[in-house]
Amino acid sequence: MDFRANPFAEQTLGKGKRMGLLFLNPSMRTRLSTQIAAQNLGMEAIVFNVSQDGWSLEFEDGAIMNGITVEHVKDAAPVLARYFDIIGIRTFPFLKNREEDYNEHVINQFIKYCDVPVVSLESATVHPLQSLADIITITDYLPVKDKPKPKVVLTWAPHVKPLPQCVANSFCEWIIAWGGSDFTIAHPAGYGLDGRFISGTNVTNDQAQALKDADFVYVKNWSSYDDYGKMPENESNWMLTRAKLASTNDAKIMHCLPVRRNVELSDEVLDSSSSIVTQQAANRVWAAQAVLAQILNNKDD
Ligand code: CP
Repeated sequence: MDFRANPFAEQTLGKGKRMGLLFLNPSMRTRLSTQIAAQNLGMEAIVFNVSQDGWSLEFEDGAIMNGITVEHVKDAAPVLARYFDIIGIRTFPFLKNREEDYNEHVINQFIKYCDVPVVSLESATVHPLQSLADIITITDYLPVKDKPKPKVVLTWAPHVKPLPQCVANSFCEWIIAWGGSDFTIAHPAGYGLDGRFISGTNVTNDQAQALKDADFVYVKNWSSYDDYGKMPENESNWMLTRAKLASTNDAKIMHCLPVRRNVELSDEVLDSSSSIVTQQAANRVWAAQAVLAQILNNKDD
């Protein structure tokens, strides 16, 4: 189904069903695009900002809850599953303990204790709905003249604080699985990603070399995986500027947003016709709608 051409074609699919959108961390695009996608499918979508409005949740098995946590996920999740047919959850990593974050402890607890489908709205290590929108966006701008496969570069960008590796992990995983591009990752030393997400991919610490002949440049900050959650060097010279784009093949510029202007990307790049960040964010609706439709279809099997 081409939801972009006909957003309301499957309004009956979700009729009488409810989606809960639980946010333990802030969001604009994911929250609104998923809410719109659910409503396009006829579902009622209810947003619950857990971190602001809910009880403070405990995730440790056997915890003696005499501190700041008020409700265990074991008690909360089954209740949510009685209220909702599908639950979406956003939960960021703590960036303190790599093993805990990479075990996806928080979202897995919800999956364990909810007996309805749980959708990741970005978890500790991945952001799948973003990546699906990213691949849709790249395919929207194909074909690239004279090339069977476009050159796609994911380039690390500076930031003012350590961010999760989720968007970069997922983008690598999805673009490799898609297989439709010649893909390169560029980052400064110390910012290598988890090998499970980047198998067989070109990786370089030379941004200029990576950008040469690029058709798509995806700009994103992430903190260190090896020195977990740290920023070994905040290489401000990695900001993407117009001058750096001269060697590209008139590349389209991507970023998942929100973006720190003139830190990650210069104004002149973001405000140019090369930037497709708005189209990328718009595609979040169609990515979410495709996934929710698939779940609704399977649920009734
Ligand atoms: N790209 C993205 O996930 O944006 P939000 O954090 O605003 O949801």
